[in-house]
Amino acid sequence: EDPAKVARFEERVAADEFIEPNDWMPEAYRKTLVRQISQHAHSEIVGMLPEGNWLTRAPSLARKAILLAKIQDEAGHGLYLYCAAETLGTSRQEMIEALHSGKAKYSTIFNYPTLTWADIGAIGWLVDGAAIMNQVPLQRTSYGPYARAMVRICKEESFHQRQGFDLLLQLVNGTPEQKAMAQDALGRWWWPSLMMFGPPDDQSPNTARSMRWRIKRETNDELRQRFVDATVPQAELLGLKVPDPDLTWNEERGHYDFGEIDWAEFYAVVRGDGPLAKERLKARRDAWDQGAWVREAADAYEAKQAQRSLA
Ligand code: ACO
Repeated sequence: EDPAKVARFEERVAADEFIEPNDWMPEAYRKTLVRQISQHAHSEIVGMLPEGNWLTRAPSLARKAILLAKIQDEAGHGLYLYCAAETLGTSRQEMIEALHSGKAKYSTIFNYPTLTWADIGAIGWLVDGAAIMNQVPLQRTSYGPYARAMVRICKEESFHQRQGFDLLLQLVNGTPEQKAMAQDALGRWWWPSLMMFGPPDDQSPNTARSMRWRIKRETNDELRQRFVDATVPQAELLGLKVPDPDLTWNEERGHYDFGEIDWAEFYAVVRGDGPLAKERLKARRDAWDQGAWVREAADAYEAKQAQRSLA
């Protein structure tokens, strides 16, 4: 690569300029973005599955309407993100094939099961809460189309977080069984939510370079800490106990100290050993196969239109 071009690119990034699709960029920058944006898109799409599972069992019409809207938002997020990745010269087909073949990653969090209705609240509150923490800084990521996609996504994620908290608030004010259900959900989703931020900074191969290129604006550990600091008081408000005996407020640091994450579990789930990894991928592949007729009909329609405009 031309060193003058590289230097100019690094200068533009350091000056907080957005890089746009037709601008020159180093191949490694393009590759990192395709990797991160496509993984992000896959997470949004696979993320519809654990919640979709509860649509037919929502306890009221209002809750069903909220859940349906939220899941549709996630589909939209996936589509904006696939579009943003396509501006880097990769095709939707390639990205989807990478997901279906098990080559592409998606967030570990979506390989955990949703066992009770309280899990829907915990996903909104914790999983979407963690997603916002990570995505608000991405509104200023250095690649223009990714940054712009994040603006609307963050607004919608805020609604998702609020509806989850509101669902749990209703449960903790309900019967003792309902409160216990909320506590059980927090117990199961807390640690996997902390894992969403990725490996610790000193074991994160991509962080240093992505920070320099301003793809990432904050490191995995910084965002994880911010999430813990924001979420613990919310758990207190709900009257629920965070399942971490080491969790304590550290006056000196001005942050919560928290216990060791089970990184062996994290890496196992990243490798595809998650409790539901196989089911999730099968559901995506089946949806793709069952939708083949729609794609064929769209192609046939387009061909017919093209013929008409020739005539
Ligand atoms: N689940 C699955 N894989 C993960 C996770 C996770 N929670 N965290 C890290 N990894 C993977 C990385 O993708 C990377 O794999 P690769 O190099 O083979 O592609 C590897 O572990 C090492 O991690 P890092 O070096 O820290 O990778 P990176 O700099 O990409 O940081 C992060 C990971 C923080 C997830 C980043 O990619 C990011 O901010 N992505 C955008 C947000 C996103 O994808 N959110 C998805 C969940 S939120 C939602 O969809 C509702």
